[in-house]
Amino acid sequence: MLRIIIINGPNLNLLGRREPEIYGEDTFEDFMIHLKGKFVDSDVELTYFQSNHEGELLDKLHEVGFHYDGIILNAGAYTHTSVALADAISGIETPVIEVHISNVHKRESFRHHSYVSSVAEGIIIGFGLRGYELAVEYFL
Ligand code: DQA
Repeated sequence: MLRIIIINGPNLNLLGRREPEIYGEDTFEDFMIHLKGKFVDSDVELTYFQSNHEGELLDKLHEVGFHYDGIILNAGAYTHTSVALADAISGIETPVIEVHISNVHKRESFRHHSYVSSVAEGIIIGFGLRGYELAVEYFL
């Protein structure tokens, strides 16, 4: 049984309501139901965690980062600001796939740099919620 966790950072709790022209109209809770359904016959356990607080994201990475098989991380705006997040990813053993719903390279220049990318196993950007699905497929 593969253990995979999706960790979403700040403001991603507002998916479905937040700037739907950029992030779509689905809530993440609805998407999780779809995702679990899609992989129901695979030997995988999918968990979801969201926090608006940087320290809570670090705590979660430390908690799962030595015994989970994969972490799918959308750190939201902390992607572009947090050295602490990059250090946490370097310090744990579980591989991290960085996901962004929108194509950050088409957007403001402050979204073009990611502290996460250089410590991530791979990056999936701009495919909407489908990116999380692709990340699960990679780990499988
Ligand atoms: C995001 C892109 C970030 O720049 C932004 O701050 C987010 C969401 C995305 O999934 O497209 O909160 O990570």
